[in-house]
Amino acid sequence: MTIIRPSRSSDLDEIFSLESYWEYAPHWSKPQLEAELLRPDSIFLSAESPDSRLCGYFIGRVFGGDIQVLSVSVDPSYLRQSIAARLLDSAFSKARLSGCIRATLEVSEGNIPAFKLYQKLGFQIVGKRVKFYNDCSSALLMDKLL
Ligand SMILES: CC(C)(COP(=O)(O)OP(=O)(O)OC[C@H]1O[C@@H](n2cnc3c(N)ncnc32)[C@H](O)[C@@H]1OP(=O)(O)O)[C@@H](O)C(=O)NCCC(=O)NCCS
Repeated sequence: MTIIRPSRSSDLDEIFSLESYWEYAPHWSKPQLEAELLRPDSIFLSAESPDSRLCGYFIGRVFGGDIQVLSVSVDPSYLRQSIAARLLDSAFSKARLSGCIRATLEVSEGNIPAFKLYQKLGFQIVGKRVKFYNDCSSALLMDKLL
């Protein structure tokens, strides 16, 4: 069974590779990932397979009663195994314990897998930034009460 646990600095090489692999990931640099691990307002989780491979990660920040989802990615060989859903659920449980009442995020309208994931978890569209990204796709703003 894949476990969800707090990320560690020894995960960062694999997280960086995964970040770089996916078109829709935010493409953080290694120093940015290292800094994120140290932030007290960050929720940074890894999914680890039974054979100790990193198969996904989640990064979010807690701010003013919200958790903002910044990045979630899953290794291509582990897709559709509920890893992203479990990462998000674990992050939201932690966020609730920190006093958060809402999760917020922004997703490209072209990113169908992520949009479907967020919809399945109960997120609703609350706004749209037209032609927000470099490829001229729009950003959907989505929220969910925790
Ligand atoms: C989006 C992403 C994180 C989903 O990861 P995942 O572990 O495969 O997702 P899950 O298995 O938890 O999926 C949960 C639900 O989301 C929806 N979903 C996920 N991927 C989907 C797809 N490719 N097509 C349609 N629906 C999808 C489904 O409703 C799914 O439930 P089901 O499998 O019972 O039908 C993954 O595709 C990914 O890493 N994409 C690249 C990075 C990215 O775009 N991240 C988001 C922006 S930062």
